[in-house]
Amino acid sequence: MDAIAALTQRASVAKLDAPAPTAGQLDTLLQCAARAADHGLLRPWRFLTIEGEAREALGELFCRSALREEPSLSETLQTKLRNMPLRAPLLLVVIAQLQDHPKVPEVEQLLCAGAAAQNIVNGAYAQGLGVIWRTGDMAYNEHVLSGLGLQANERLIGYMYLGTPVKALPQAATPDLSGRCQSWPQS
Ligand SMILES: Cc1cc2nc3c(=O)[nH]c(=O)nc-3n(C[C@H](O)[C@H](O)[C@H](O)COP(=O)(O)O)c2cc1C
Repeated sequence: MDAIAALTQRASVAKLDAPAPTAGQLDTLLQCAARAADHGLLRPWRFLTIEGEAREALGELFCRSALREEPSLSETLQTKLRNMPLRAPLLLVVIAQLQDHPKVPEVEQLLCAGAAAQNIVNGAYAQGLGVIWRTGDMAYNEHVLSGLGLQANERLIGYMYLGTPVKALPQAATPDLSGRCQSWPQS
């Protein structure tokens, strides 16, 4: 797919099926991520892949962690949490690795990891894959983060749910940009 078409038409896909991206497609996604703009070339990111039965283990981790925060969680919500990672055949977790740097503040490192995540989203669409970037409580729950092995200097940027779109790949309409870009100074 043409790069501009991919960037301007990209749309998220929430309904995902098997097969998961191939090893080659996944490698391309990681290469896309690694080309995110990066002040100081700190490479302030790393990734986890979670697929197959590991998704069930992640669902258990979600449920266990939520119960530690809210012991009276309903059975319905527990089941919902257990099933969350099963919504796609592959989850790619994007993690920011923050480091002390005299010229690159933490916010810029977070932006870089976020740009890496967006490059994954764009790279998936360009390859005809379905993807949706999700966060929610399970991206910030300390028990989940420690179960995933995050260190104190790390932040979970997103769970990239990846798979095959159930329907044809959608094409997004361009949002209304009127008033969003002005020349400065205004006359
Ligand atoms: C940081 C971040 C977190 C997000 N978390 C969620 C989420 O937890 N659940 C969700 O449905 N969409 C989430 N989204 C939004 C979707 O990824 C998607 O962008 C949105 O549904 C709009 O669809 P579009 O990408 O096709 O425009 C998140 C997006 C970002 C950038």
